[in-house]
Amino acid sequence: MKQDMIAIIDLGSENNSALARAIRAYGVYSEIYPHDITGAEFKALSNVKGVILNGGPNNVVDGVAIDVKDEIYSSGVPVVALDHKTDKCPAITEAEVKSFVFDTCKCEANWNMANFIDDQVELLRKQIGDKKVLLALSGGVDSSVVAALLIKAIGKQLVCVHVNHGLLRKGEPEQVIRVFREELGATLIYSDSVDRFLDKLAGVSDPEKKRKIIGAEFIRVFEEEARKLDGIDFLAQGTIYPDIVESGTKTNKIVKSHHNVGGLPDDLKFELVEPLKYLFKDEVRACGKALGLPDDMVYRQPFPGPGLGVRCLGAITRDRLEAVRESDAILREEFDKAGLRGKVWQYFTLIPDLKSVGVRDNARCFEWPVIIRAVNTVDAMTATIEPIDYAVLKKITDRILTEVKGVNRVLYDITPKPTGTIEWE
Ligand code: XMP
Repeated sequence: MKQDMIAIIDLGSENNSALARAIRAYGVYSEIYPHDITGAEFKALSNVKGVILNGGPNNVVDGVAIDVKDEIYSSGVPVVALDHKTDKCPAITEAEVKSFVFDTCKCEANWNMANFIDDQVELLRKQIGDKKVLLALSGGVDSSVVAALLIKAIGKQLVCVHVNHGLLRKGEPEQVIRVFREELGATLIYSDSVDRFLDKLAGVSDPEKKRKIIGAEFIRVFEEEARKLDGIDFLAQGTIYPDIVESGTKTNKIVKSHHNVGGLPDDLKFELVEPLKYLFKDEVRACGKALGLPDDMVYRQPFPGPGLGVRCLGAITRDRLEAVRESDAILREEFDKAGLRGKVWQYFTLIPDLKSVGVRDNARCFEWPVIIRAVNTVDAMTATIEPIDYAVLKKITDRILTEVKGVNRVLYDITPKPTGTIEWE
């Protein structure tokens, strides 16, 4: 390992992630550990230059203050407690963290993406040897960055499976094939499962049932592809740090990442490879960029797992799904032209399962409305509306009305969350 590390041990704080991010922002790597990390586990960590005990409102459990094992105090590296009184080690304030990291622990500011990638390549080669790794490559940020990292580390030993469930945005499956198979030379199995998913979803209008069908069918398709392959020992996953460290819990126990595999049958047992599990989302993007992935893959907006399936409201039909896909592509294109990409958190179109009367070419038409949604948020729990410039709205509307088949109205949803959720289903 190239980087020095500051270990944050959670003694019930609610800001472990913020502290880790602040230290990383100084250029020093930092990881979060639960208070009950054993002496042996602590000793096995590499390059720990200092420990910050991070106490807080949850420091007392069942009337007893939680503490770390004695081996940590006697390990020889500096240990301090942040904003937290203790008689076993000195306390520091938030303003003193930087000086602790550099002056007391003598850390070098050597945490950067080039070093991270070098370290991961070395670790991945060591973990995987000459074995093969399977990856479900959706084309989302996390799975794309995992793929690029593994291609760099083990090349052809990585087998990517891209399942096209028919609910991806316009151009996405083509981009995955172009970037990974053609440009990066990956082994990529493309599973065209569009009919299979849409047949299963036909007539299903309940949003939760739709989600369940899409999730379950995805596992089934992936499993079938995996069974066709021989000699795969590892499964790679795009688990990221926020997935394993939940902020604001009692002691932020590191959740066993196996819960992520969810759904694969017992006889398909793989060892997990999770090279992004210590990265925050912005670091994942920086890693992807450093690995040469295109900007529109690395900086893309959040996109739900069930994809356009939850934006073609009610029972999905192929013609309406196509209209959602086309109108979404127009919206994204016009946002790009207006310089809004990367500035608005999430923007998309959706089509409800209803038609209204209109006129087209001097005749009555009975067609769908397209609804535009564009929101800003920090954590997706609440959201505000992006006030789209009128000229941009008009351009999008004109294009949708002339280019998208079956659509005679465009509406703009200005509902914040709450009361509206970001998606409509
Ligand atoms: P809501 O609609 O709950 O959405 O305000 C909050 C964020 O979550 C995304 N979302 C999903 N993501 N699977 C996902 O992976 C889902 O089923 C799902 N539903 C909503 C949504 O796009 C928004 O970013």
